[in-house]
Amino acid sequence: MASFQTSNYLLSLLIFLSPLLITAKTAPVVADAPGPASDGPLDFIGILEKGSQYTTFLRLLKSTQVGEQVVNQLENSSEGLTVMAPTDNAFSSLKPGTLNKFTNQQQSELVMYHILPKYYSFYTFQLTSNPVPTQATSEEGTCTINITSSTNQANISTGIDDTSITNALYSDFPLAVYSVDKVLMPPDLFGPHSAKSHSATSNGNKKNNSTSALSPSSDSEADADTGDSKASGVAFRGASWSSLILGFLFMGILNLL
Ligand SMILES: *[C@@H]1O[C@H](CO)[C@@H](O)[C@H](O)[C@H]1NC(C)=O
Ligand SMILES: *[C@@H]1O[C@H](CO)[C@@H](O)[C@H](O)[C@H]1NC(C)=O
Ligand SMILES: *[C@@H]1O[C@H](CO)[C@@H](O)[C@H](O)[C@H]1NC(C)=O
Ligand SMILES: *[C@@H]1O[C@H](CO)[C@@H](O)[C@H](O)[C@H]1NC(C)=O
Ligand SMILES: *[C@@H]1O[C@H](CO)[C@@H](O)[C@H](O)[C@H]1NC(C)=O
Repeated sequence: MASFQTSNYLLSLLIFLSPLLITAKTAPVVADAPGPASDGPLDFIGILEKGSQYTTFLRLLKSTQVGEQVVNQLENSSEGLTVMAPTDNAFSSLKPGTLNKFTNQQQSELVMYHILPKYYSFYTFQLTSNPVPTQATSEEGTCTINITSSTNQANISTGIDDTSITNALYSDFPLAVYSVDKVLMPPDLFGPHSAKSHSATSNGNKKNNSTSALSPSSDSEADADTGDSKASGVAFRGASWSSLILGFLFMGILNLL
């Protein structure tokens, strides 16, 4: 009688626990699958690819790894992000060789200058006060732009060049993407005093040295891959453990019956 009760108890415990065990087993798999949370980041690159005239900007986003940062930031940020994407025409009207002259660090700065750490619609552009901070920083601190806007247009001034945005490629919190037909020029890279940042001073070297650690390479991609496989290894081991426990419980019950 006592043993019958015990087995009954164990059986109900098992029934009670089994959804938990099954959940524990499947949860890592679910986490790997693209959920709704990762739609945004996927969209970001997709939006630009769909536009098909942002290939240079896409290439820079990738080579500087700023694209990845944007994706990460979008997942967490409570403020959202605004991206001003220069067209391929905008890049081709730069002086030839401009991009190649820049170090990795300077290319990152240029790309980040096109990203505002906040979601702006045409409406919120009007509420903001100048200067507006960008994601870029130089030796002088955060690089800024000035924005003047009306209900369906915003004019942007960097101090070196001006452009205006008239339509959004995408605008839905947390992300706004606008097309610009000029590359926004950060004063420290394009201004009259920019020569010093182009010259190979020890300062310049330090800059590109520090970015080379961050710069995209097959190495860092390999790292990410091993990270992934390690994570799934752990998940797999977790799954085996729950199967084992399940097995023990079953054996225990069989013994008692
Ligand atoms: C996202 O948020 C988590 C927890 O709040 C934090 O640990 C992580 O560093 C954040 N990631 C980014 C990219 O900000
Ligand atoms: C933007 O600039 C254009 C031309 O420079 C001007 O006509 C327009 O009024 C400006 N718009 C705003 C909102 O400042
Ligand atoms: C940006 O706006 C601020 C504040 O109105 C002004 O002091 C500054 O000169 C402007 N800069 C440029 C480059 O237009
Ligand atoms: C660049 O980095 C290498 C190794 O990380 C170091 O040996 C070298 O001194 C650095 N050069 C500069 C200019 O910082
Ligand atoms: C910095 O980059 C330039 C080319 O972009 C390279 O010639 C130089 O060796 C690099 N310096 C360091 C310290 O890595």
